[in-house]
Amino acid sequence: MEALKQKIIDEGKVLSNTVLKVDSFVNHQMDPILMKQIGEEFAERFKGMGITKVLTIESSGIGPALMTALEMGVPMIFARKRKSLTLTEGLITSTVRSFTKQETNEVTISRDFITEGDNVLIIDDFLAVGQAALGLIDIVKQAGANPVGVGIVIEKSFQDGHKTVKETGVKLESLAKIASLEGGKVQFVNEGDQQS
Ligand code: G4P
Repeated sequence: MEALKQKIIDEGKVLSNTVLKVDSFVNHQMDPILMKQIGEEFAERFKGMGITKVLTIESSGIGPALMTALEMGVPMIFARKRKSLTLTEGLITSTVRSFTKQETNEVTISRDFITEGDNVLIIDDFLAVGQAALGLIDIVKQAGANPVGVGIVIEKSFQDGHKTVKETGVKLESLAKIASLEGGKVQFVNEGDQQS
């Protein structure tokens, strides 16, 4: 997605060989026009799959997931990482280990909102090692629903997440694929290259 790649080039900051800072349009301030385009792009890439719900994980996945759900005309659910005051019963939980942040979260949704027969599209802002996506796929399966797609805004293709998600057999679409952050420079995957 060219507009997204251009934004990464213009505003992204390479913090290390593995971490890209995109606080000005994804992770802190959000760019609503870009988010709307991202929603349209995901809706196009996953059209005709009978999607009934969009699922993400708080907090930065909420923007792109909501715009995608709006475009598809379905509800969006965000999994919670913290315990909620009101969300106490009928929960589905999975454990997600963050390698970037070196912490483990219990990720939770209510059984009320994803149910048997739902076709669920999972959306997230980053794909690094893929543990968040795996946790969300697990939640969807526990609900008796079908994980039919994973849509990622920025994939770091040099980490294991791409392979991990592909191995689940769920369709993966990433809007910007980063091949390398070495030398302080963002290098995108050449879309002509084969990537399994
Ligand atoms: P995973 O999401 O693929 O499982 O990988 P990992 O456990 O390493 O990621 C943990 C958190 O760090 C996630 O955010 C993920 O989006 C974020 N992250 C990973 N790599 C990068 C990166 O290069 N740049 C930025 N900006 N974020 C990265 P989170 O903890 O869910 O945070 P948030 O959604 O509340 O913002």
